[in-house]
Amino acid sequence: MNMNDYENKLKELGIAFIKAEHPDLRTPAEVQSYLGLTLADGLSTMIMKIDDRFIAVIRRDDCRLDFKKLKKELKCKSIRMANDEEFEKITGMPIGAARVYNPNLKTYLDNKLFEKEFLTGGTGSFICSFRYKTEDLKKIPVSEICDITEDFSKKEKIVFSGIQPSGNLHIGNYIGAVRQWAAGQDEGLNIFCVVDMHAITVSQDPKTLAQRTKEIAAILLAAGIDPQKSLLFVQSHNPDHANLGWVLNCYLSMGQMSRMTQYKEKSEGKESVSVGLFDYPALMAADILLYDTTEVPVGEDQKQHVELTRDVAERFNAKYGETFVLPEPVVPKVGGRVMSLVDPTKKMSKSDANPNGAIGLLEDPKIARKKIMSAVTDSGNEVKLDWKNKPGISNLLEIYSQISGEQYSGGNNYGEFKLAVADVVEKFLINFQQKYKEISESGKLESVLEIGAKRSYEISHRKLLEVYDKVGFVRL
Ligand code: AMP
Ligand code: TRP
Repeated sequence: MNMNDYENKLKELGIAFIKAEHPDLRTPAEVQSYLGLTLADGLSTMIMKIDDRFIAVIRRDDCRLDFKKLKKELKCKSIRMANDEEFEKITGMPIGAARVYNPNLKTYLDNKLFEKEFLTGGTGSFICSFRYKTEDLKKIPVSEICDITEDFSKKEKIVFSGIQPSGNLHIGNYIGAVRQWAAGQDEGLNIFCVVDMHAITVSQDPKTLAQRTKEIAAILLAAGIDPQKSLLFVQSHNPDHANLGWVLNCYLSMGQMSRMTQYKEKSEGKESVSVGLFDYPALMAADILLYDTTEVPVGEDQKQHVELTRDVAERFNAKYGETFVLPEPVVPKVGGRVMSLVDPTKKMSKSDANPNGAIGLLEDPKIARKKIMSAVTDSGNEVKLDWKNKPGISNLLEIYSQISGEQYSGGNNYGEFKLAVADVVEKFLINFQQKYKEISESGKLESVLEIGAKRSYEISHRKLLEVYDKVGFVRL
């Protein structure tokens, strides 16, 4: 249906609208800003697949879909956004240009649409938008009004976390970080970033860095990060991070930065330490603050950096008025610290000199078995959780319960216990690596990362411009 036919169809249905022409603009944020409107004045039509059929969902641009509500409302088992190909096939439009009326599609209208008299939305073209009379949207054939976006009364949860593509990801990263990220995806907005710019604060081999960046992204997908629900992107693909990092630099003091434990640890005994390593928390603060993040799920070791992020955000807000949301670090109650298998008083770490201390997620499951079997245990023979006196056994118990989801119920024989842990870990790795292989071979990784970078930029760039305005950078 061309634009003329579409206009005629709307008239025929009795849907009033006014045409607004503009330059070629792709995102709702750009369009609204060009037209002098806010996100709350815009609407978007989303094409979704529920069970085995497609539907259209219309929501205001400042309202986020609540998948739980949607599932309940539609009484369906599975629900996801249509991918680019499906979208284009069904609507005949390029993604981003959806119209409110799509023949043959049942359309669900979110009730918050009707809080506004007019809303601007897609027309099938990037150079023209329609300001629709909201009340008239009820005339869309086969449509239904429902409550499917998140409540504004509760503070929206925005989760951001980053992971470095340095070293091989190990089961500590999985238990303490990645798995928890995947588990929280149904609530709020979840953003996950492979922080390659953080990785170069210490020396990296370029080829290995590039390969690991992709590897980690695929690992995140294998661990259950769902790109239909969450944003996944690579830090260097969104220039806003470095740009805000620079600004924040100027609001952090040398004294504050010098107190960072991780910096002290990582620089200790080194002949030469990069300024980047020292300055790294400023970039991390930028990562977090660009997205109005409310929660940062991290391991214990990163808590101090999130506190620093809060400090710099508070300082900036005090000087320039409310700009940044203060994030909370969320450290998992259990599993936040998986310890090294060779020295259970030290954290399992990617950078440990002794390869037997950590179990890589992509490591040969047979070798992983051997590492568990030769893990350092403690004197005595009781298999019980006692971090003070039995760190080795406690660590293995924790790995067992975290990976299997069950408490160890065997007896007090160290050998038997280790066998049980080895079995659980081996089974887990085989399963995980199978998923990883499927994802790496599917060829979809690049497009997932491309979409993630684009979407993250849509959010971050508004924040960056707000900051630039506040500090006095001239806009042309
Ligand atoms: P890193 O390996 O230091 O880049 O950390 C990536 C994420 O995994 C961060 O959230 C860390 O806090 C978390 N993490 C790293 N090592 C462990 C560990 N041994 N146990 C639990 N979580 C960890
Ligand atoms: N510094 C974190 C680490 O080394 C990675 C990271 C970078 C991060 N930016 C972040 C974590 C933002 C949480 C939020 O593990």
